Amino acid sequence: MLYAGVDLGTSAVKLLLMDGGGKIQKIVSKEYPIYFPNPGWSEQKPEDWYEQTMAGLKELLADCDKSQVAGISFGGQMHGLVILDQEDRVIRPALLWNDGRTYEECDYLNNVIGKDKLSEYTANISFTGFTAPKILWVKNKEPENFARIAKIMLPKDYIAYRLSGVHCTDVSDASGMLLFDVKNRCWSKEMLEICGVKEEQMARIFESYEVVGTLKPEIAAELGVPETVKVIAGAGDNAAAAVGTGTVGEGMCNISLGTSGTIFISSEKFGVDKFNALHAFAHADGHYHLMGCMLSAASCNKWWMDDIIGTKDYAAEQAAIEKLGENHVYFLPYLMGERSPHNNPNARGTFIGMTMDTTRADMTQAVLEGVAFALRDSLEVAKALGIKIERTKICGGGAKSPLWKKIIANVLNLKVDVIESEEGPGLGGAILAAVGCGEYASVKEAADKLVKIIDTIEPDPELAAKYDARYAQFKEIYPACRPLFEIIR
Ligand code: XUL
Repeated sequence: MLYAGVDLGTSAVKLLLMDGGGKIQKIVSKEYPIYFPNPGWSEQKPEDWYEQTMAGLKELLADCDKSQVAGISFGGQMHGLVILDQEDRVIRPALLWNDGRTYEECDYLNNVIGKDKLSEYTANISFTGFTAPKILWVKNKEPENFARIAKIMLPKDYIAYRLSGVHCTDVSDASGMLLFDVKNRCWSKEMLEICGVKEEQMARIFESYEVVGTLKPEIAAELGVPETVKVIAGAGDNAAAAVGTGTVGEGMCNISLGTSGTIFISSEKFGVDKFNALHAFAHADGHYHLMGCMLSAASCNKWWMDDIIGTKDYAAEQAAIEKLGENHVYFLPYLMGERSPHNNPNARGTFIGMTMDTTRADMTQAVLEGVAFALRDSLEVAKALGIKIERTKICGGGAKSPLWKKIIANVLNLKVDVIESEEGPGLGGAILAAVGCGEYASVKEAADKLVKIIDTIEPDPELAAKYDARYAQFKEIYPACRPLFEIIR
């Protein structure tokens, strides 16, 4: 049988077709615009996601035996607020995961309601990108839109709804709304009340591998596939990527170098970060995970290459980098503010340490290293919680660079296992579809059978020691700049 995985990303939807044995048959990608209507705001149109997903699905399935298609599932950008009216029409563009406009609402949630209460109700505190502060923002700033809300949805769930007619969500993505009782895997009555929302406005919750329904007949006809094709709930993109890299079970780690950068630690037991820096979310395998999320990762490199130095030849720029561990230039990668661990929407991208002999290659290197240092910030929080990690998987666009993988291995002092396919969330979505259709008994069984490690990058002790010393300097830069970030707005 065949399974489609839909990775509803921030720059594009990436679709992947996998057979029951895990062989990837085809990959298709369709872009859509992102809007920044004000500094720090970030929006997309759910209708664009749907149109491009349908166009992508048609192309994906164009030359396969369509009678063999059994299931479709998702990995989706998390936290985005999609609001629908009584007729299920989209009320306004979605506020995305990297939107920083809700600092007043976050301040209210964290300091008036209080972090202890938020943590008790949801296992997490408020960050500007999370969904609950966005609902409060709509309530405060657009009351006429708030009054029209019949359903509150997350990005991938809007697509699942358009395909199946079911208002659904899954436990991993719901975890990022700050409306979900992560430990007990149900909506938090307290949080719904705090946000002025009723449970009937929320979607029905599924485990990530559960079937929510089948394709609507008109969608099946448009795609030319049987009406029996199942729609499986899927997961937030990081949990889906973890499935796609085999990061399931106790104490496994995955790093995703996409638009955002995440460090994801799977766990069989529920646990909360007492420092409030890492997110405590449900995992797509039926268990839990902790995650640090930086808002700009591979997007920093893309910004530096495409917009600032004006090249598409990333490999040529990286080939000029020679002196790892000896760069005097540092880069704070906070181009959209920062989430983990600083929780500061006003943080900004910063270069520091240049001299007259600084080269273009030093600056490029500083960007790659700045992202690695910022990921280490989250790893250090996990270590302080007593979590021991020796190795990690890696996926996402940035993971295609051998140099960046080497920098990550040495800055974080972790063995980096390279997976046969770096298509994290799309592959995870297809695996969840296969589990939902009964091809595998569990997510763990499927991941163990389907995900193959093809290489391991070992940290070099000498280089790791040099990077340790560099990281000690990097750590000093953000606290020193923080007061400036409040002034230069
Ligand atoms: C995770 C997060 C991002 C988005 C990117 O908390 O905000 O990784 O899911 O798509």
